[in-house]
Amino acid sequence: MTMTEPGVGFRRREEADPLDVVAPARLSPGDLVDVLRAVAAEPERWRPRVHHQVSRRYYERVVTADDHEVWLICWDVGQMTLLHDHGGAAGAFTVVTGTLLEDYGQPGSGRLRQRRVSRGGCRAFGPRHVHNLVNPGPGLATSIHAYSPRLNTMTYYAVLPGGAVPVRTLSVDEPEPPAG
Ligand SMILES: [Fe+2]
Repeated sequence: MTMTEPGVGFRRREEADPLDVVAPARLSPGDLVDVLRAVAAEPERWRPRVHHQVSRRYYERVVTADDHEVWLICWDVGQMTLLHDHGGAAGAFTVVTGTLLEDYGQPGSGRLRQRRVSRGGCRAFGPRHVHNLVNPGPGLATSIHAYSPRLNTMTYYAVLPGGAVPVRTLSVDEPEPPAG
């Protein structure tokens, strides 16, 4: 058997033609809902990881795939994300304990809308979605979130009279970190 040296027969990454670069594979918001429902239906995958803390939201990645990722997020009362996008990723989330309140719109939105997502509820969104999620209480909340492609950057927004205005972009390797 002949061993093939790594790289033989292939162009090395740094030699690749920029025109050959392929955009990350994407799942649709509907696909992400299917992913979430499958994960939520197997609590042994996420329930042992549930951990709430007063100082900050707690989160753990429970799935890493080429074209998406899934995170568990645990919310004490009053914890929120601030208004943000997902760097061009689509997403979905489902609440498995408690309730989340979502203010949402799009960049430049003059007015955000609000919806309440209770246990068992699921919401999906496209790449232009901006939102703030908060646990309004009175109890703890736990949710599962899926993103495609995997989160890479997030931009935070301020709501000014002219709408939701971008104020800061972060490179991220975690879901919805504090913008501070
Ligand atoms: Fe988000």
